[in-house]
Amino acid sequence: MRAYVAAIDQGTTSTRCLIFDHHGRMVSVAQHEHAQHYPQPGWAEQDAAEIWRNTLRVLPEALADAGLSAADLAAVGIANQRETTVVWDRTTGRPLARAITWQDTRTAELVEELNQGPHADLFREVCGLAPAGYFAAPRLRWLLDHVPGLERRARSGDIAFGTMESWLIWNLTGGPDGGVHVTDVTNASRTLLMDIRTLDWDQRLLDALDIPRELLPEVRPNAQVYGECVVGLPGVPIGGAFGDQQAALFGQTCFEAGEAKCTYGTGAFLLMNTGDQITTSEHGLLSTVAYALEGQAPVYATEGSIAVAGALVQWFRDSLEMIRSAPEIETLARRVEDNGGCYIVPAFAGLFAPRWQPDARGVVVGLTSYVTRSHLARAVLEATAWQTAEVVEAMAADTGINFTRLKVDGGMTANHLLMQSVADVLAVPVERPLVAESVSLGAAYAAGLAVGYWPDLQGLRDNWHRAAVWEPAMSDALRRRERAAWDRAVERTLHWVH
Ligand code: G3P
Repeated sequence: MRAYVAAIDQGTTSTRCLIFDHHGRMVSVAQHEHAQHYPQPGWAEQDAAEIWRNTLRVLPEALADAGLSAADLAAVGIANQRETTVVWDRTTGRPLARAITWQDTRTAELVEELNQGPHADLFREVCGLAPAGYFAAPRLRWLLDHVPGLERRARSGDIAFGTMESWLIWNLTGGPDGGVHVTDVTNASRTLLMDIRTLDWDQRLLDALDIPRELLPEVRPNAQVYGECVVGLPGVPIGGAFGDQQAALFGQTCFEAGEAKCTYGTGAFLLMNTGDQITTSEHGLLSTVAYALEGQAPVYATEGSIAVAGALVQWFRDSLEMIRSAPEIETLARRVEDNGGCYIVPAFAGLFAPRWQPDARGVVVGLTSYVTRSHLARAVLEATAWQTAEVVEAMAADTGINFTRLKVDGGMTANHLLMQSVADVLAVPVERPLVAESVSLGAAYAAGLAVGYWPDLQGLRDNWHRAAVWEPAMSDALRRRERAAWDRAVERTLHWVH
């Protein structure tokens, strides 16, 4: 009997396979990190072939860990880092350049032109996004302009573009005749090319960026059998795909308008379900597709995207060598009572929501000889908390909804000091579900729904259980003081690049 569902979580730093049972409990996990390439300041690349090889490693490892085989899986779903852009040869299946990741800032000039040009409003209106270097299509344009021969080959139809789910589905379903070339609505909604009402590519936007349609995958709902794996998990249907942040919203069972979650990974992403409403943000948030189930109207979300959260801890560990492992930051930060007057604003790739300042760069301010690496560790964690607060405020200003609690998930939620800090600065309780792997769970849920493993959304809701809650414990006066200091620090990041 096929009693389990698998999820592939293709994230910014690693690729994982998680296996879930019918109650949404995780029964095994396998993970491999991939290399990050930074060929120039502001550039960030990954090797899609390495990511595919890692996928082929984690699948059997996760199965072996649980004593299972592919025949035990009802379906597999995919969640992925969004906006990371890859092009490959349809005949050889090989990537034609390194994938350009969502943190890469090389398209700033092109984006500036788009924002000054005649189509700026059209992008906002049709895809719910103001042009920014964060999205996929400017990267695709960059590749077409800079990889020799790519533009010509793109027009003859022998190469393919995709984000990571598309790349993995192509490979998993790839036999001698090539694989299935599809994407899902949530990933497509991050390209700058999809109409979020029709859920299809918009010719006017393709023309504005001069992108040939032949390159693009077909846009599909989130829960649908796209094809069967011929490698990796032979015979297992691929039943769903999701951009990882929308997957987490789904995994947290935020199915009603007004329900929200924040996922703490490489970045942090707060999404709120807005039902059938597409919000037009006045406060730096994005409109995006939350999910689309086959034969049903799409559900939308508003999103506050924070580029650097866990990535700052990683930088503290790998570049500054202040700690040896990520969890050590909590021990270090707990050695002191407060940040000692020090603030870090990690505008490594400019600032994302709510400010969208591509020319901002990071700062460490308030240094005195009193400050130790423990204070810096506190400032690292507090940076994530304050960025969350800014997004929550923007959401309240846009929608009039003030959260009375916040659901959280992702790797960083293991850090109690950080979660306490989030509760303190938001002044509302923060709660984490029993399965904090909401990204993978959301992908598994989509795949399971597609094959009837789970009958409906209510069945999924029943799987959600609260495991931890952090209550706010900061005085209003202190919160106001700290907030003012944070704001002053952010001011110093602005317009650094000329
Ligand atoms: O939009 C980028 C996002 O999808 C990356 O997610 O979990 O790798 O930080 P994560």
